[in-house]
Amino acid sequence: MFEIKHKDIGGRVGILKINHKKVETPALMPVVNPHKMTIEPKKFRRFGTNILITNAYILYKDFRNKVKDIHKFLNFDGVVVTDSGAFQLMRYGKIDVTNKEIVEFQKEIGSDIGTFLDIPTTPDKTHNEALRDLERTMRRAREALKITPNLNGPIQGGRFLDLRKIASIQMSKLPFLIYPVGGIVPLMEEYRFHELFEIILTCRENVPLNKPLHAFGAGHPMLFSFLAAIGVDLFDSAMYSLAAQENRYLTSHGTYSLEELREFPCSCKVCTIHTPESLLSLNEEKRIKLLAEHNLHISFEELRRVRNAIYNGELWELIQIRARSHPKLLEALKAFKKPFLERLDPVTKRKALFYSGKESLFRTELESFRIRLYRNYVPEKTTRLVILPYSERPFSKFYNVWNTESTHFAVATPFATVPLELENIYPVSQHIFTDDSILQEETLQRIREFIHHFKGRYSRIRVFKKVEAALEFCHSLKEMERDILSDIKGIVNFQFGYPAGLALENVEVRRSKRTGKIKEVYSDSKLFGTFRKDGFLIPTMWGAGEMKKLLRSPKRRVILMDEAVPFVEMGKSVFAKFVRNCDSEIRPGEEVLIVDRKDRLVAVGKAILSSREMMEMESGVAVEVRHSLK
Ligand code: GUN
Ligand code: ZN
Repeated sequence: MFEIKHKDIGGRVGILKINHKKVETPALMPVVNPHKMTIEPKKFRRFGTNILITNAYILYKDFRNKVKDIHKFLNFDGVVVTDSGAFQLMRYGKIDVTNKEIVEFQKEIGSDIGTFLDIPTTPDKTHNEALRDLERTMRRAREALKITPNLNGPIQGGRFLDLRKIASIQMSKLPFLIYPVGGIVPLMEEYRFHELFEIILTCRENVPLNKPLHAFGAGHPMLFSFLAAIGVDLFDSAMYSLAAQENRYLTSHGTYSLEELREFPCSCKVCTIHTPESLLSLNEEKRIKLLAEHNLHISFEELRRVRNAIYNGELWELIQIRARSHPKLLEALKAFKKPFLERLDPVTKRKALFYSGKESLFRTELESFRIRLYRNYVPEKTTRLVILPYSERPFSKFYNVWNTESTHFAVATPFATVPLELENIYPVSQHIFTDDSILQEETLQRIREFIHHFKGRYSRIRVFKKVEAALEFCHSLKEMERDILSDIKGIVNFQFGYPAGLALENVEVRRSKRTGKIKEVYSDSKLFGTFRKDGFLIPTMWGAGEMKKLLRSPKRRVILMDEAVPFVEMGKSVFAKFVRNCDSEIRPGEEVLIVDRKDRLVAVGKAILSSREMMEMESGVAVEVRHSLK
């Protein structure tokens, strides 16, 4: 029902199939108030959406005899999601309909996805109250599923992460179509973004990744990039209309009141035809309609920007910009330091990693680099290590040095101290930092970390803090032969884990004539692998086979179900559905060994999904095959 097409951080561009209708995610569902259709639903298609959400409670109360078929009533043939009135319950404390009645009603009117009457637990509730609410919500969930399977399964638990975790686990065991995170509207209204992100992250960590998540009531475009990055697939917006009713003008990074605006910063149809002044002079109904149109326009614009950023691997860059537009957002970014999030993020991006401030230093790509460095990398020889200060790149060219039999080099960067042979690997060669980010506390901390971790491996470690002194030292060195075997072993260990590098012997390389970068690696005169542009090695079948002998199953492996073997052998992609098991450390973008149940090498390829996704997704490509047996 849900398939991932592109990923970045924990975000995904995907396809959601509901009653044979396809919705591209992350998607925004405009909220339709049956009493006040600020914008007619049939116009939503123009904004590029084929999904909306409306309120079954209002329909039940005030339009019961008029609504037979919700699609006809709204004159909208896309996906219609209905909410249950639970939000009204939260706002006004009481409503006069039972869970059973409202679920049956939604089934009758042909809602594509209904919602049972969950108990939204606001953040002010105590742990006891939240627990009691959650138990009632769970009972109602089971009652509702006896009536229809086309339902949302809201996750409650108030501000308590332990309850959110229990709710996520229990709710996702029940067969709902979508899992909304509920009771979060007050957090958004009060700009309590850190708590909001912690809650959503807890839910995403505990709801299987094949199940779409919806942030109930998240309608402000300034939050879309953040929420998408932590795995939210659906947003709903009443904001576009509610804000318009109060003369508020939404932008991708905040809200203005109409009176504050001298000119419109947007180029949508409304904003090009009108001025703030001319809008203010219109009658209320007209003004609200036009303002709502702009607000919806800007919301969909941001959503397209988010999907684009996911496609391009630039979601962090977008988030960095958005985070800098409000200190509460910047502060809230701390919540993103979660191991499970880092493990979902591709190891490489199409473009350079941009530094925007200290928040950039805990980016998932950098954390993932450090993890592989400390876990996988093993210095090949007991040599002297010289740590050089950050410089222009390529570092080896700037200092005119290379690793030799007796001396190895590393470069101190603010995100890791990087062994010189890894200098072409993303993100070492593909990042743009500011000068003042370089020689700071973080860089020194990373040097200490590196030394602590690899202490016993080097005979001596010398650290240069000043570029001039380091240059002088490097120039004083005698020309020595580059220790290419140990360089390639270093890269292979870093990428595949020790002792994969031991598969190499009598190494020879072929370089690019233009850049001098290594393109091909031969071991004992046989082609072992070729280098990607981002510095990762693609092993040949032979190279992979040699490494496989040294790595115990399931390390670096994706293990196929029997029925997929004949296809993958012939070079077809590996579908998630046919992954029997895999190494739990696989991240998207890594090169993996594809084997059958008996650990016979069937192919090598590039992981499209992380290991968790390979195990949890039921459709879509898990690994793109590069080389195969036949
Ligand atoms: N709309 C906003 N928050 C909620 C919630 O927690 N539950 C439901 N059903 N609708 C909502
Ligand atoms: Zn506009």
